[in-house]
Amino acid sequence: MEHLVSSWCNGRSLPESYILPPGKRPGKLTVPLANNIPVIDLGGHDQTDVINHGVPSNLMDEAMSVFKEFHALFAKDKAIETSKDPNKSCYFYTSSPNYATEKFHFWRDGLVHHCNPLEKYIQFWPERPPRYREVVGPYTAEVRKLGFRILEFTSQGLGISPDHFSSGLSENQTLLVNHYPPCPDPSLTLGVGKHRDPGGINILLQSDVYGLQVFKDEEWVGVEPIPYAFVINIGYPLQIISNGKLKGAEHRVVTNSNVARTIASLFFNPSSETLVEPAKALIDASNPALYKSLTYKDFLSKYIAASSDSKALEEVLSTTL
Ligand code: OGA
Ligand code: NI
Repeated sequence: MEHLVSSWCNGRSLPESYILPPGKRPGKLTVPLANNIPVIDLGGHDQTDVINHGVPSNLMDEAMSVFKEFHALFAKDKAIETSKDPNKSCYFYTSSPNYATEKFHFWRDGLVHHCNPLEKYIQFWPERPPRYREVVGPYTAEVRKLGFRILEFTSQGLGISPDHFSSGLSENQTLLVNHYPPCPDPSLTLGVGKHRDPGGINILLQSDVYGLQVFKDEEWVGVEPIPYAFVINIGYPLQIISNGKLKGAEHRVVTNSNVARTIASLFFNPSSETLVEPAKALIDASNPALYKSLTYKDFLSKYIAASSDSKALEEVLSTTL
């Protein structure tokens, strides 16, 4: 656990292992803020409403507080609180789950745990801070409802069955709570490198600290936190299921030298044996499948093998390249 970023970062300069190769560094630190990310208001009549999303604002505040309190624990306590399940449905890492083998590290600590079914997994969640389970249980339950509404609207928009995502394709709901401590040199490292998420959708709660950037039209743009709004991110599997109609957004996280940033993402991932493939209703003679069908397990191994090389991954998954 001695490699926890938050346990040693205070007052030190950036260790060599966190300095990214020149081509992967953030480059220009000030990028334009995005001004055309659609803000969807789920409170209106026409289902395009993701403010007024139904998750109570006090629950969002409380969840963010316990996530920050968790990351403020001593490293040895974080280790204890994340090793309750021998099958490792709850775990903790610095940089990425491949810390031991990766060539360079990213400036983040991450807590991960499964959330579905809640009754099965909650016993393995942290018990410190003391309110963790009491707050995060209802939080994930509310965000789950929101996720299913969004997936239903997504199906409607694509013209596929409204329950297309209701079982295997979204069964594996996993919470990732990232913490990015203040960084000695944000120009040389990143919190998370450029990637597309490996899940279906991701419902992301940001603290009020900026750090998320999206790669759009060959340019990085910043996604400023909007109070009580969620960021909805489309992952690669949804790109496959929609046969390319929806695009997984490429994004990364920059650090800053002043304040820590905490976020919580609920990922709606397929279960391991579920087939990830273009929806049959979107395929016909004039619209051939652009992607191969793969179990989610096989998709993930290809995703991991391609590392963050999106061209290499596209080549492996595409039927046409
Ligand atoms: C991630 C990620 C975004 C953020 O962990 O996959 O993209 O804002 N995090 O921290
Ligand atoms: Ni991501």
